[in-house]
Amino acid sequence: MSDKNSKNNSLDNKDQAWSARFAEPVAELVQRYTASVGFDQRMAMVDIQGSLAHAQMLAQQKIISNDDLTAIQKGMAQIQAEIESGQFHWQLALEDVHLNIEARLTQLVGDAGKRLHTGRSRNDQVATDIRLWLRGAIDQIDSQLTQLRKGLCDVAEKHAATIMPGFTHLQVAQPISFGHHLMAYAEMFARDASRLRDCRARVNRLPLGAAALAGTSYPIDRALVAKLLGFDGVCANSLDAVSDRDFAIEFCSVSSLIMTHISRLSEELILWMSPRIGFIDLPDRFCTGSSIMPQKKNPDVPELARGKTGRVNGNLIAMLTLMKGQPLAYNKDNQEDKEPLFDSADTVLDTLTIFADMVPHIQVKAEAMRAAALQGFATATDLADYLVKKGLPFRDAHEAVAHAVKTCAARQCDLADLNLDELRAACNLGQQAQLIDADVKDCLTLEGSIAGRQHVGGTAPQQVLRAIAEYRKSL
Ligand code: ARG
Repeated sequence: MSDKNSKNNSLDNKDQAWSARFAEPVAELVQRYTASVGFDQRMAMVDIQGSLAHAQMLAQQKIISNDDLTAIQKGMAQIQAEIESGQFHWQLALEDVHLNIEARLTQLVGDAGKRLHTGRSRNDQVATDIRLWLRGAIDQIDSQLTQLRKGLCDVAEKHAATIMPGFTHLQVAQPISFGHHLMAYAEMFARDASRLRDCRARVNRLPLGAAALAGTSYPIDRALVAKLLGFDGVCANSLDAVSDRDFAIEFCSVSSLIMTHISRLSEELILWMSPRIGFIDLPDRFCTGSSIMPQKKNPDVPELARGKTGRVNGNLIAMLTLMKGQPLAYNKDNQEDKEPLFDSADTVLDTLTIFADMVPHIQVKAEAMRAAALQGFATATDLADYLVKKGLPFRDAHEAVAHAVKTCAARQCDLADLNLDELRAACNLGQQAQLIDADVKDCLTLEGSIAGRQHVGGTAPQQVLRAIAEYRKSL
């Protein structure tokens, strides 16, 4: 950004909003150090929107004339067009988005532009802009989150009866439905959506009217401004209105949780796509190759998402730390809220948009999942449960199956590979071996194992389908 060759709205240092008090211009490095226009210009449209609502209220309350209002509206329309077409000349000397737009307005419409800031401060102005901007970002993120949740449901429905090994400690534990596994992520993202909406309700309050910190002596109508800007109400305390950023911290925290869930899903996609596991494949458009190893197809998207989670978590810590030592009311520290906030919002939105596109295209290798589920004695618990249902106390049943597993491990076979007599002997049950009957085979199959878990929250395909139908009601 250059301050030279300004065609339309260049101002001398003496024209800076606060300059009359100062005997010398600000040092060049200090100017760069304190300016935010490099990153806050992306709030330009909401800044104009906020100013127009403020001006309309000022006119309605007869604080400015209707002619002034008309001039301000015309000037702002031109400024908006200049910004949208890239013609607007942003000046570092004008520090931030607010002063840049206001200076240009005054240049275009004269005194009416100078009256816009009546009853307002940059402190309540910037707080309003961030809230308007963040509200828009939240709505975009919410909609991508919904897309991702729909995609998860669709894949889960298709694979309600696809069997994979479920893991604890990354060791084969019990057979589960792949659809059930995916719906676990759908549940996480449903909670994220609910947190996001909670956060939105606290974001959607109007700070304007607080002015610098103490309110203003003009007969303003805050409720009108709130209504014009679509806020649910006004911030109740002027000091809090200008200094509060906990709505932004809360958003960063919600973002961290979303990315944490994305990161867990990513980790699984990466593992599943490893040729050593081979449960899934991802379409080429979400992967990249290696510059040296011609055979490679790397799951870059999930890896990057996992990596970006670190940055989003860092943004949360930056925001918390920025706020922790601040006395009331506004302090310039707060200017540092924008980069982490924007970065978290951008990262979460991009990540969710890509995942919403990618998840429905996960290529499931059901045979590999099934083969893996047949290894590792995934149905051992089912055998123990079978013995319990025949009257054995659970601890004894557990012990009996442990013996059987030991035998199978030595013979390198599965429980289902033993015939009835071998199984009876392997369970080491003595007299009670007769408890095991021919019907035991049903509980040792993968299908029998998952079908048995017939309750709300269980992995039986019927239950998975019921859970998906229930879940879809919230979409
Ligand atoms: N650029 C500032 C920010 O982002 C705007 C508010 C400045 N207020 C002030 N009194 N210097 O926070």
